[in-house]
Amino acid sequence: MTSVHGDVPSRWQQCATCGNRLDELDPRTTCPQCGGLLDVMFHTPAGRAADLRRQFSSAVTISGDARKISGVWRYADLVMNASPETIVSFPEGNTPLIANPRVASWAACDRLLLKHEGLNPTGSFKDRGMTVGVTQARRVRARAVACASTGNTSASLAAYAALAGLPALVLVPAGQVAAGKLQQTLSYGARTLAVRGDFDQCLSLLRDASERLGIYLLNSVNPFRIEGQKTIVFELLQQLEWQAPDWIALPAGNLGNTAAFGKALGEAASLGLIDRVPRLLAVQASGAAPFYASFTRDFRERLSTRAETVATAIRIGDPASYDRGVRAIRLTNGVVVAVPDEKILEAQDCVKQAGIGCEPASAASVAGVREAISTGLIGADQSVVAVLTGHLLKDPAVSHGSRGNLPIEVDASLAAIEGALSSGIS
Ligand code: F0G
Repeated sequence: MTSVHGDVPSRWQQCATCGNRLDELDPRTTCPQCGGLLDVMFHTPAGRAADLRRQFSSAVTISGDARKISGVWRYADLVMNASPETIVSFPEGNTPLIANPRVASWAACDRLLLKHEGLNPTGSFKDRGMTVGVTQARRVRARAVACASTGNTSASLAAYAALAGLPALVLVPAGQVAAGKLQQTLSYGARTLAVRGDFDQCLSLLRDASERLGIYLLNSVNPFRIEGQKTIVFELLQQLEWQAPDWIALPAGNLGNTAAFGKALGEAASLGLIDRVPRLLAVQASGAAPFYASFTRDFRERLSTRAETVATAIRIGDPASYDRGVRAIRLTNGVVVAVPDEKILEAQDCVKQAGIGCEPASAASVAGVREAISTGLIGADQSVVAVLTGHLLKDPAVSHGSRGNLPIEVDASLAAIEGALSSGIS
């Protein structure tokens, strides 16, 4: 390949269930023949690995071109071939891989790294999918965009829609969204409906309503969201100089991210960017674990549940990307585990005390690693990247709650300060 963005393979959408092909610019997000979910497809010719690696690392961070400053659009060849004027980017991505001895020791995993996706512009990994999804909304000339959400997708959608100048509609489960996320969604100006129902009901309602209202649906059933979220994997592999870790752990709710990780790893392997495929560890909260239940039955049955967990982001009982999630687990020889809320909060405390911080759902990945090490599933000498999906400030109620450090109110005097510290500051 000679030019940086020349020779970009053409793309199409394809139904994962019946194989029906749709044009790349078709705005439908499910197959018109069978209702199945769509994948974005492109040829991944062998022999391009060295070129691609060079191209990814030659991106610079000072120019205004999103293809160079965004940790999503740097991988445009593997994501979307959009013209620079069309791209809607803050930018996003470029998140750190953090080695922290305290968290590693808690998880009993010496070679643990944390990929902190909470450091994206709106504080979660959703921005990686949304920059691509809203760019696609522009390409298909959508007049408005919409999502159902447990909070992070809506915060991200609202921000990117505002950046693009598009109206946004959001459906959230009433009373079940963390304060920081709702505040973001409202602040960025999305028309927000709090539905008396759960996330699963919100999504199914919106899937019907968006078609009827002609609004472009940007939940992760939209295949372009998946394309953007693949870059979490590409970026972490690049940060590891394309030496794949043994495992990648992530929280699993609606399974869009699990699907994206599987697709990214499949493509990275077939392009020769990596020479072995890491195993996925998809972690659910025990009270919201239908995917785990299906996994324990070898995926013979698709199960759903009424979800309940303190990790509100993954309080999902009927994951929309179930089939894609199964594919990702099979492709990577992956494993699904479930961890109880106490363990999620313990993991979150540990991440907070390390000065890193993340929201409860994100801590599920760390709790899952500890669980998998304790059962011997992950060997103590194996390398693991655990993805922290959302920022600590997303969920102030839980972040600050009874398990945490609380402020001590004192009079405005030196004596009061000394009194409060009489037994030391730790
Ligand atoms: N972590 C966080 C912080 C999330 O917000 C979500 C999903 C997940 C993990 C799970 O990812 O659904 O792709 O399996 N949040 C969605 C939302 C559902 O509406 O913000 P998934």
